[in-house]
Amino acid sequence: MVSKESLTFFFAFLQKESGLVLDSSKTYLIEARLEPVALEAGLASIDALCHQLRLNPTSPLGRKVVDAMATNETSFFRDRVPFETVRKVVFPELLKTNQKAKKVRIWSAACATGQEPYSLAMLLSDTGVIPAGWDVEILATDLVERVLEKARSGNYSHYEIQRGLPTQYMTRFFDQVGSEWQIKPEVKKWVQFRRLNLLSDFASLGLFDIIFCRNILIYFDAASKKKVLDRMAASLAPNGALFLGGGETPLGISERLIRVEVDRGVYYKRNEATLSTSPPIQPQGLERGGNSVQKGQLQ
Ligand SMILES: C[S@@+](CC[C@H](N)C(=O)[O-])C[C@H]1O[C@@H](n2cnc3c(N)ncnc32)[C@H](O)[C@@H]1O
Repeated sequence: MVSKESLTFFFAFLQKESGLVLDSSKTYLIEARLEPVALEAGLASIDALCHQLRLNPTSPLGRKVVDAMATNETSFFRDRVPFETVRKVVFPELLKTNQKAKKVRIWSAACATGQEPYSLAMLLSDTGVIPAGWDVEILATDLVERVLEKARSGNYSHYEIQRGLPTQYMTRFFDQVGSEWQIKPEVKKWVQFRRLNLLSDFASLGLFDIIFCRNILIYFDAASKKKVLDRMAASLAPNGALFLGGGETPLGISERLIRVEVDRGVYYKRNEATLSTSPPIQPQGLERGGNSVQKGQLQ
């Protein structure tokens, strides 16, 4: 049993470090996820673990605790419609507006084990929508190093690739290696993975044409939601599109985003009228090194 005092400390610690909000109705979850962390650290109980965190909140143990509490549920082409909207509406529009630079920058924020950014890479390579000479960059970030490691490996179980992935994509973009499915190098190299806490200032990443920030804000407290949404608005290029999860909305939280409805899809554009209050952001390219890809490299 975890003491009430430890729980109170732990809720505040988790919220400060990650934005994630839990309450005592989730005590069973906390016990299930933190007991192994305590055990691995040689501590007798979660109370002892909390005591250590109090003494040294910025220790590697603190990061392990936060990592253990993050929910990393995801799947390929999750909810399908946002991906269709990118393919049918947003991307074709960007090909017109970005004609001069011939470049599109995409960010999968809170990418978990990589299914989301790889879905975007497969989608854009499959449809042949990228004209020759165009440069597409996909940055994928998450708070948890453990899930980023899996994402970087590009290895998925049969169960994982069955969830949401069209059969023709399975055979076209994956190699079966034993019982696992490995994403092909020509798709993998599109995506650059990096650890990033969404509560930090991410302005230095530059502007993005497409941002997927899906199924993470639902776990955040109101102040963290606002902080992230305001900053996301400032990270959108003038014609950029932000996609949120099905249960997530900036309504009543951030005035810096405007809702756009297309067919069945919904995305958000930056509200120019409110952005003058934000500090200006200079566009900045991602580091190269095999991660930025042109259409010709994919086929
Ligand atoms: C439920 S998954 C969503 C994955 C994907 N976007 C999707 O919709 O399928 C949420 C992810 O957010 C990450 N996360 C939690 N807190 C975060 C934070 N403060 N900054 C960045 N990522 C965070 C978790 O590690 C987890 O991988």
